[in-house]
Amino acid sequence: MTNWLKSWRRRGWLAAGAMALGVTVFGTCAAAAPPGDTRHGEEVYSLCLACHALAENRTGPRHCGLFGRRAGSVPGFAYSEAMKRSGIVWSAATLDGFLAAPSQVVPGTAMYVDVRDAKERADLIAYLEQAGRSEICKAAQSG
Ligand code: HEC
Repeated sequence: MTNWLKSWRRRGWLAAGAMALGVTVFGTCAAAAPPGDTRHGEEVYSLCLACHALAENRTGPRHCGLFGRRAGSVPGFAYSEAMKRSGIVWSAATLDGFLAAPSQVVPGTAMYVDVRDAKERADLIAYLEQAGRSEICKAAQSG
């Protein structure tokens, strides 16, 4: 094969790669742009219910009051040192990063369950936000 042909082929692969990247970036934006589907988010949350509840501490800390709360700060819950020292304040953005790869974001955390799909995370986070404003959480916070 001539050099010219080789470099042409390489450029072909580059173009294909760039297109694939474009599709990925576009796909991510498309998933993040509309508000999350809270109904689907509630279904995803069933995965979390194995250890968490909204209003009370179980194997994991309660999720009422999560938004705006410092990581590792629910009274009476025995967090790992890693979580207490993480310095994270929970928001849609920090939750998105943490839930994608908990042990990478907070090495040494006792929470190892991840949600790899960006759309599932967006829906789950929308549900958690909605649940935080629910009567269950209002009662839990005043009580
Ligand atoms: C196998 C049990 C288990 C499952 C399932 C689980 N978690 Fe956790 N989670 C924990 C534990 C234990 C901690 C405390 C981690 C630490 O101290 O390092 C935690 C901590 C957290 C925190 C930090 C809370 C805080 O107060 O700082 C968030 C947020 C969280 N989990 C969200 C979720 C979500 C969302 C799901 C479902 C996708 C989920 N977890 C599933 C056990 C679990």
